[in-house]
Amino acid sequence: MSVLVTGGAGYIGSHVVRLLRQRGDTVVVVDDLSSGVAANVGDAPLVQLDLSVSDAVDSLRTVIADHGVDAVIHIAAKKQVGESAARPAWYYTQNVGGTAHLMLAMEAAGVRKLMFSSSAATYGNPDVPPGSLMRENGPSSPISPYGETKLVCEWMMRDAARAWGLRGVGLRYFNVAGAGWPELGDPTRFNLIPIALGQLTEGKQPVIFGSDYPTQDGTCIRDYIHVLDLADAHLAALDYLDRDDRPYDIFNVGTGTGSSVSEVLEQIGRSTGYDVRPTIGDRRPGDPATLVADVSRIADALGWRAHHDLAAMVDSAWQAWEPTHGAPAVRPS
Ligand SMILES: NC(=O)c1ccc[n+]([C@@H]2O[C@H](COP(=O)([O-])OP(=O)(O)OC[C@H]3O[C@@H](n4cnc5c(N)ncnc54)[C@H](O)[C@@H]3O)[C@@H](O)[C@H]2O)c1
Repeated sequence: MSVLVTGGAGYIGSHVVRLLRQRGDTVVVVDDLSSGVAANVGDAPLVQLDLSVSDAVDSLRTVIADHGVDAVIHIAAKKQVGESAARPAWYYTQNVGGTAHLMLAMEAAGVRKLMFSSSAATYGNPDVPPGSLMRENGPSSPISPYGETKLVCEWMMRDAARAWGLRGVGLRYFNVAGAGWPELGDPTRFNLIPIALGQLTEGKQPVIFGSDYPTQDGTCIRDYIHVLDLADAHLAALDYLDRDDRPYDIFNVGTGTGSSVSEVLEQIGRSTGYDVRPTIGDRRPGDPATLVADVSRIADALGWRAHHDLAAMVDSAWQAWEPTHGAPAVRPS
C-alpha cells in the first residue's frame, strides 16, 4: 500500500512511519516541521508543507499523484490545550482547516481511505458515574478548543462519508507515553511522564494536582498507552479500511486500565532510581477524576489490543530521555 502520513516527523507519526515501512508499505510524509524533526522519518520522502495554507489542496493533490497514494493517515495537528484556549481561531485554522484541505485533495484525487488522529480530549469532563469507562457512543463535550477541533474533524469525516464515500476511521488516543526507539522519545513536556522526568532531571519534585478525588488513592486516574501499541493500532486501522465497508468509525485507543498519578510517579521512581517525593497542589479546573477507555470496540472490530504495561512505558521513556532531551542536570543518586 502507498500511504501518505501527515505529521510523520512528529513523536507519534515517526513511530507509525517506522512500523509501516518495516512491514513493507510505501510511505510519503507531509509535515510542516513546526514541531516535527526531519531526521525522524529516516529516508522516507518528506514534503514540507503547512496543511492549513490556502494552496495546500493543490500541493497535496500533487503529492498524492506523484506517490500513487491510496490511503492517508492524518496525524498532523497542533495539540496544546492551553495554547488552544489562548488562540482558538488559529487552532481551528490549523486543525480543522488543515483537515478540510486534506479531504478536498483526497476527494479530488479519488482517495477514499482516511485514518484520523483524534483524542480522548473529545470526551471533556464527562458527567458519568465515577469509574465508568469511556465509550465511543457516549457523550462528547470537549472543554478546550483543542478537543473541539478534534470532534469537528470527526464530524467532517462522517459527513464526507455520506457525501462522497470517504471511508474514515478516527482513533481517539488516550494518554500516549514511552518510546519505541530511544531517539524517538516525546520531546515535549505536556504529559505527566515527561513533565515529571523533566522536573526530576532538574533536581525538582513533581506536583500532584489534587489528592482528594473520588479514586482509590485520591489522585486522578488516566489510561496510558505505549506509543508502539498506538502506532500498531494505525496499521490495524489501515487493514480494517481495506477489508470493511463500514463508511465511518471511531475507536478508543487505550489499555482499558487506569493508573493514578501516584502510581505513575511511583513507577517513575522504580524505573529511574530517583527519590520521588511529590508535593500536593490544588486541583486544576476541568480535570476529570477518571478517564479510562472502554477498548472493547477496537478489539472486536480491528482485533487490536495493547501489549505494553505502565512499567514498559516509563522504562522506555526514561531510556529515550537523554537521546531526546539531552543529559540530565541531576542524575539519580
Ligand atoms: N501525544 C499525545 O498524548 C496525544 C494524545 C491524543 C491525541 N494526540 C494527537 O496525535 C497527533 C500527533 O501528536 P504528537 O504527540 O505526535 O505531536 P507532535 O507535535 O510531535 O506531532 C505533530 C506533527 O504534525 C506536524 N504539524 C503540525 N501542524 C501542521 C500543519 N499545519 N501542517 C503540516 N504538519 C503539521 C508537526 O510538525 C509534527 O511533526 C496530533 O494530532 C495530536 O492531537 C496526541
